[in-house]
Amino acid sequence: MKIYAVGGAIRDTQMGLPIHDIDYVVVGSSVDEMLAKGFRPVGKDFPVFLHPQTQAEYALARTERKTGVGYKGFMFHADPAVTLEQDLERRDLTINAMAQEVLEDGQLVGPIIDPYNGQRDLAMKVFRHVSHAFAEDPLRLLRIARFAARFPEFTLAPETLEALKAIVQSGELKVLSPERIWQELARGLVAVKPMRMFQVLLDTGAAPTILPLTLVTELLKESERESLNADFHVSPACLNERCAVALMHLPATEIRSWADTVRMPLEVRDFSEIFSELVRFIGNHPEPSLSAVEALAWFNRADVWRKPERGHALLALGKMVGLLVDRLLRAMEQSLALESGAIIANLEAGDRLNGERIREAIESARLQSITAALLQAS
Ligand code: CTP
Repeated sequence: MKIYAVGGAIRDTQMGLPIHDIDYVVVGSSVDEMLAKGFRPVGKDFPVFLHPQTQAEYALARTERKTGVGYKGFMFHADPAVTLEQDLERRDLTINAMAQEVLEDGQLVGPIIDPYNGQRDLAMKVFRHVSHAFAEDPLRLLRIARFAARFPEFTLAPETLEALKAIVQSGELKVLSPERIWQELARGLVAVKPMRMFQVLLDTGAAPTILPLTLVTELLKESERESLNADFHVSPACLNERCAVALMHLPATEIRSWADTVRMPLEVRDFSEIFSELVRFIGNHPEPSLSAVEALAWFNRADVWRKPERGHALLALGKMVGLLVDRLLRAMEQSLALESGAIIANLEAGDRLNGERIREAIESARLQSITAALLQAS
């Protein structure tokens, strides 16, 4: 048997980028031989194994045939006669369909095996699909959208754009699992240029199926795309922040329902919802006329009392995208500095064990502190 490193590791090495994990393909072997060598099978359907020591993934070279809809509608054919070239042919992009032999000790040897001209496409900075098998996996549309965000200088080969449009028209995007959609979107959002991912979704016609309606409407306007692009550019490449920027002009209710459909992690969802409420609140009140009652309502909503770091992160993001948050930040800091012990001590003795009275007193002290902070000159 022969072992080859394939996929992203070869692509990234060729691009001079660091590699995180290596996928291996094993040619000329069988399930029995892999098991005899101590490899552990992954799942029951895939001919994929984990190395007994390194836990790296080793897949038997295989061909695939589509047998049904969606990501799972495949039949695999793995036997010792399947060649490396056949295995590479079923892969998505030419730049992901290169391989290099690996020795027992893990050392990469020999030339880059590149039957589908991945090196040429790397040099030309083109995303080009390998074969007609490309269209059989709708997830690839999202993969390419996120690769576009990661390698923004790459363009789509015209034939690949057509293949992606055909995936959209086949209606197969609808059978993708929400988790897989979110996984790809999340990776694209934290990449160098998330706007490129949205551009691919727009250009292929996938955006209305994948993204929330208000975001799609926004993305259709060039000026809005530019402003969103600029906001991505100034925000940190962290999921909470990037997702919140993408969704900041959506009402919180729309964020909630879309988050549910893609099973967005709750922490990311809440951050986005609360940020969109901040954008609305500040947008409705230019800074000098900020209302203390609304500020307190937003602090309560953001639960800055228990999660002050989140409050700071939300306001910091607001500042990055140009919201005037300085007074609000000061109000948050001053109200956070209040000592609840002292507030309780000021209550009449009979009220000091009364939860409702304590809550009211704290709320009123916070309101006073916020009012004073908002009135202070900047
Ligand atoms: N692959 C594919 N189609 C998919 C998923 C994966 O053809 N839907 C192939 C590609 O050859 C890819 C390889 O499997 O390079 C490994 O996939 P994966 O680890 O998911 O992605 P990478 O290309 O390694 O990219 P990344 O660095 O983002 O993980």
